[in-house]
Parts: sequence; structure tokens; C-alpha cells
Amino acid sequence: MLEVKLGRLELRNPVLTASGTFGFGREFAPFVDLQRIGGIVTKTLYLARRRGNPPPRIVEVTGGMLNSIGLENPGCDAFESEMLPGLVERGVTVVASCAGERREDFPIVAERVDGMDGVAAIEINVSCPNVKKGGLDLGTNPEIVRSIVSEVRSVTEKPLIAKLTPNVTDIASLAQAAVEGGAEMLSLINTISAMAIDWRSRTPILGTGTGGLSGPAIKPVALRFVWQAARAVDVPIIGIGGIASAEDVLEFLVAGASAVQVGTANFYRPTVSETIVDELERLLESEKVSSVRDLIGTLRVEPRVVTAR
Ligand SMILES: Cc1cc2nc3c(=O)[nH]c(=O)nc-3n(C[C@H](O)[C@H](O)[C@H](O)COP(=O)(O)O)c2cc1C
Repeated sequence: MLEVKLGRLELRNPVLTASGTFGFGREFAPFVDLQRIGGIVTKTLYLARRRGNPPPRIVEVTGGMLNSIGLENPGCDAFESEMLPGLVERGVTVVASCAGERREDFPIVAERVDGMDGVAAIEINVSCPNVKKGGLDLGTNPEIVRSIVSEVRSVTEKPLIAKLTPNVTDIASLAQAAVEGGAEMLSLINTISAMAIDWRSRTPILGTGTGGLSGPAIKPVALRFVWQAARAVDVPIIGIGGIASAEDVLEFLVAGASAVQVGTANFYRPTVSETIVDELERLLESEKVSSVRDLIGTLRVEPRVVTAR
């Protein structure tokens, strides 16, 4: 009923957790049965440990939150020796999110992760809006996205996902560029570039000035992007943005996603990913839908003519 197949990547259900919002899984192991969810996407990995941005790095806003974590991470060696073994032991489907400090580093990190047996797929994060050097610029330029994806493609046999930024006007050309570069799946959206201000002190609240907006506020934006990307390319799409319930998941599936990732909701409801899987089963049964696969890309967009009177 819940199994989905995203090209070569088979998942027990379509509910993954999103990069940077679920640590490396073990932090959530006391609350969530990690085997029950479709899989986890790790915090974005760099080759070496990164400290991230200066605080404050998170602020709550209406309908969501802003972050400028700056891709703090433990580096590939610590991930492989300290974090991955526990996940493999538990039978968790692990997707490793990879990026580079510089454009040339992406394939180096991907090649390092390619050698790790317990990693089921690689998601390249060509879309982080928080790293001053490159993140946003790299991810908004289709030519650069195509070439980073193809460089990564040439060093790994693992299923490859390209995670796209929403900070563009034309998602179709970005999606096409990633697929031309060799991405077998796309995931979207990353956070939306945004800002919070303390007017009394006349200062931005985040240490870096701007950050990325996530949470329920971005769900309608994410649905629109997923729908447009699904119409532009012929590869499985993973929908991300404000998902917090089974109803949200099904909206993304109807829009064209084959699976989803749950992000910010993990912060305010740590058990949410597993709850969504339970809810999904009940919802499909009560609606007499025999498989989630039957709903993927079923949005009916009929022209509605409004006649002025
Ligand atoms: C605190 C925080 C850290 C994040 N770190 C990463 C990251 O390391 N790599 C990445 O690709 N996305 C990162 N994201 C983006 C999420 O994976 C997701 O794309 C985004 O938050 C939208 O989903 P949501 O509205 O469900 O949170 C982060 C988001 C948050 C809130």
C-alpha cells in the first residue's frame, strides 16, 4: 500500500526526513522507530568538519522559521565511523546529502560517500541559501547545476538526487539542467531566502542578516514548484516544504511527487514522521485507495472560464 519506487531507489513508504532537520537519525531514535519511516536524509556533509554560521542561527516567524545554520557538519570521516554504522544496524534507508565548499569539492565529497556501503542514495545540495561562498549562486544557475551534477554523476553509481532551490523564477529550466547532468531524481524545495528584523534595535535577527524560510508557510509555494517541475521532467520528484500531516503528503503526491521529506515539523513535533506513516495508512484505507502510487501526478487542471457579468 505504501511502497514506492523512485527509479532504482525502493522505499517502504514515501515519507523521508529532510536534511538538516533530523540530525543523523540517532538524535530522534528515542522518539521515532527509524525503520518505520521511508528513510532519512542526513545533514549535508562536507569533506571536513564545518562549524557553521555565527548565532543567532534560528528564529521563529509566523507560520515557520528562519535558519542560517551555515551547513555545520561533522565531516565524512566522522559520519562514516560514528553515525552510519548505527543506522545500518537498524536497517534505516540512508540518503547522504552532499555538498562542497567550492564547486570542485562536490565530486570529491560524492566520491568519498560513494565508497560507503550503508548509503542507499546521494542527494546533492546545490541549493543551500546560507553559505556565502556559492550556495545560492551555484544553485540558481542552470549551467552550473548541470555541470556539478554531471561531475558528481561521473564519480558515483549510487542513485542520485539533485536538491533544487526555490530562489529562482524558472524552475523548469533548472530541473531540466539537473536531469541533463544525470540526476535520476529531483528533490525540492530547499528554504526560501528571507529575513527577520528587530525594528527597535534596527538589526536583522539572524547573525548572517538573511536566512532560509521553512515550515507550513512555504507549503503552497513548494506545491507550485513540485507541480511545475513534475511537468518539466520525466524523473521521480521528492516534494519538500511545510509537510506536517498525511493530508499534506497526499497533496504533494497528487501534484506530481513520488515521495516527500518532512523538515521543520520535526522541530515542533519530533514524532511527526512516524505519525504521518500511520496516518497515511488509515487515510488510504478510509478513502479506499489501494496504493499511494495511484495518486502520484493525478492533479486535474481543467480550464475554468470565469465570465464577467
Ligand atoms: C534548521 C534547518 C537546517 C537545514 N539544513 C539543511 C541542510 O543541511 N541541507 C539541505 O539540503 N537542506 C537543509 N535544510 C532545508 C530542509 O531540508 C528543507 O528543504 C526545508 O526546510 C523545507 O522543508 P520544511 O518546510 O518541511 O522544513 C534545513 C532546514 C532547516 C529548518
